[in-house]
Amino acid sequence: MAESHPKQVTSSGKSSRFPGFYKLSVAERLDKLDAWHPLTPEEKARLRGQSLPLDKADMMIENVVGTFAMPLGVAVNFTINGKDYLVPMAIEETSIVAAAGNSAQLIRENGNLTAKCEATVMEGQIQLTDVPDIAKAINVINEAKARLLGIANEQDRMLVSLGGGARDLYCRKLETEGGPMLIIHLAVDVRDAMGANAVNTMLETLGPLIADMAKGDLHLQIITNLCDKSLTRARFEINVDCLKWSKFTGKQVAERLVRAYQFADADPYRATTHNKGVMNGIDGILIATGNDWRAVEAACHAYAARTGRYRSVTRYHIEGDKLIGEIEIPLAVGMVGGVTKLHPGAAIVLKMMGISKRAELCEVIACAGLLQNLAAMRALVTAGIQKGHMGLHARNVACFAGADGELAVEVAKRLEEEGKVTFDRARQIIEQLRSKK
Ligand code: MEV
Repeated sequence: MAESHPKQVTSSGKSSRFPGFYKLSVAERLDKLDAWHPLTPEEKARLRGQSLPLDKADMMIENVVGTFAMPLGVAVNFTINGKDYLVPMAIEETSIVAAAGNSAQLIRENGNLTAKCEATVMEGQIQLTDVPDIAKAINVINEAKARLLGIANEQDRMLVSLGGGARDLYCRKLETEGGPMLIIHLAVDVRDAMGANAVNTMLETLGPLIADMAKGDLHLQIITNLCDKSLTRARFEINVDCLKWSKFTGKQVAERLVRAYQFADADPYRATTHNKGVMNGIDGILIATGNDWRAVEAACHAYAARTGRYRSVTRYHIEGDKLIGEIEIPLAVGMVGGVTKLHPGAAIVLKMMGISKRAELCEVIACAGLLQNLAAMRALVTAGIQKGHMGLHARNVACFAGADGELAVEVAKRLEEEGKVTFDRARQIIEQLRSKK
């Protein structure tokens, strides 16, 4: 069905359908991508070899003793808001890249996928303790708001010239075990940056001024990664018929998917693993693009717990003959500055994606998380995860047992046929095949 489906024309004029991509060699895959955003021979060589040279690594952190490589894969088939995307993922776990591409293919052929990043606003916090009259301090700060925002904006004229800058400043009285505190939030439109530098610089300028106004003690001045004023939402809908699997009708698979979501939404034990599956689709893109995946992890999990219970970050329901899946997450990512530019591999990956806007990157990331979740749940509610991932698991076991190239493919095939994927059996098969040669 996939092969015979007419090639879709998308608003980018490029198709992310690459039938048989997985069968090619690494070099052939890179050449195939020439039809997309062509990479120079040097860039291709860098991706195939050392994407982070030692001298660059030595400047990035302390006490460097080497670099640590990970596989970089490309998930194909994504169409988001009518435009095709290639989705690079740096990740060590088998099946994730393939699963994302499979879900994307299912949706491009049987439904649609849309996403919207609502804003590029990051917030920072100033912590004041021992404020003698918090209500009065809030009034004084509110009255000075315009002036304070002006001072904040003087700290980053470049950001302001790009259309960003400090937008809002508001106060919260926070009850803590050490007594009430006054917390001041500064909201900054950071445009295409992650924004930590810009926000922290503004906070450290405003902190002493505000502490003076409030007559309180100044403590922390730091960005919050919980950027819940800049949520990204993604949504797919697909015809349930395309979900048919073995003895289950498509409608039944869709109903089982909804049941699986309801389980995750009601139970933190399941939600943790469910959301881990979502992050499988997200972290790889963050790493490949040089973004701070710990910031995004922390924000997504905090957002999942915003009602007081840790819940699913995705939602599923059925409308008529359609299954609808949705995700809503805070994504603190950047396209400019920081590691995105320092790491040569990350810069090449961003070029390959053909994206220059933070909001667009957020939309791709949210879609990858949602589709990864769909893929995992589809396997769980049908074949089960072990069977569903048997092929790739077998290939890994074959490699661990000492096979590579053609031999690994043959050993994996035999393991799968026998239905017994163990290291010992892989070793036996390798020995048998080698002795025949
Ligand atoms: C494994 O990396 C991810 C899953 O456990 C996610 C899930 O259970 O939904 C398969």
